[in-house]
Amino acid sequence: MTKKTRSTTQLIDGFGREIKYLRISVTDRCDLRCIYCMSEDMQFVPRAQLLTLEEVARIGRVFAGLGVNRIRITGGEPLTRQNVIEVFRQLGKLDKINDLTLTTNGTQLSRFAVDLRKAGVTRINISLDTLQEERFSQITRTGKLHRTLAGIDAALDAGFERIKLNSVILRNRNHDEIIDLVEFAHARGMDISFIEEMPLGIIGDHDRAETHISSDEILDILRQRHELIPTTDKTGGPARYYRCTDNGARIGFISPHSHNFCDDCNRVRLTAEGRLLLCLGQEHSVDLRRVVRAHPTNDGPLREAIIAAMAIKPRGHDFDLTSQPVILRHMNSTGG
Ligand code: GTP
Ligand code: 5AD
Ligand code: SF4
Repeated sequence: MTKKTRSTTQLIDGFGREIKYLRISVTDRCDLRCIYCMSEDMQFVPRAQLLTLEEVARIGRVFAGLGVNRIRITGGEPLTRQNVIEVFRQLGKLDKINDLTLTTNGTQLSRFAVDLRKAGVTRINISLDTLQEERFSQITRTGKLHRTLAGIDAALDAGFERIKLNSVILRNRNHDEIIDLVEFAHARGMDISFIEEMPLGIIGDHDRAETHISSDEILDILRQRHELIPTTDKTGGPARYYRCTDNGARIGFISPHSHNFCDDCNRVRLTAEGRLLLCLGQEHSVDLRRVVRAHPTNDGPLREAIIAAMAIKPRGHDFDLTSQPVILRHMNSTGG
């Protein structure tokens, strides 16, 4: 007699968690240098070591065959990778993927929004931490606010729904803009999530313990202006959502320090070099590039390597802001 399974995924880790979500970083490069993400001097992966776009699409297809139904493309800044739209087109054709999403800093969306929508992208998350031109240049070290704002408009004009802004809030850098950011998002029908900064890599800009501001403190600030009620909404990511009773809009909180979400973790990550990373906050990984290159026409070994990798997925992250980062990899190499 066959045993009835709860789900069609073949990817179940040692803690019984079903893995249905793959986040793919297509490049570690970026046209910005956000102070919480990168240091000023970054060494990027040499281009020759990156997975080709065909290899990325192939790995995505094999994951879909194993039961993954959501793929998010991240970076660095994914839209800086040449011909990246091809990957969206290939992944957008996969029947089993019902959510193909993008996390971007928005600088290139004016150029790409329409093509992304045509390729089958279902949702876009855009990073925006401030609405002040000068502050934007400080936080991103190099960026121009108007480009990201134009990108947001382009995504809205292209007809994307449920666009979400991501704001990393740092005490005394941008915490005075929490209410303005919410108003900006909600006026345009977008959701917004506030993210607690994670200690990934040495950034050389600020002491993360000093700038840490918890989601609960952000919630208190917001409650001075809005009545907020908790919801059970889930987008498949780690955000907890509240709803504003005045306009019905949503505000999310991603709280790796104050509300750990690892028990519900449903995802793994692929770095631009083809390393399958089992947890954002740990180093457990498997080299899938080696497998795809050793077996260019047979997907069997790749499938087996992915299934076997589930056994080493750790229980979760243990971030500590009081010491030097334990994880030396910066956020740009995984895109979160
Ligand atoms: P949705 O699919 O819309 O829920 O997306 P998301 O919020 O998961 O994705 P996004 O790429 O916008 O990431 C927002 C933030 O969540 C980033 O700072 C990520 O690093 C963080 N994040 C996403 N997944 C994880 C995770 O598994 N662990 C940790 N610690 N942080 C995560
Ligand atoms: N901690 C938390 N979030 C970060 N991001 C980049 N670096 C960090 C960090 N150290 C966010 C970006 C973007 C998402 C992909 O990750 O703002 O929204
Ligand atoms: Fe680039 Fe995103 Fe990192 Fe900012 S947070 S430097 S936009 S990868």
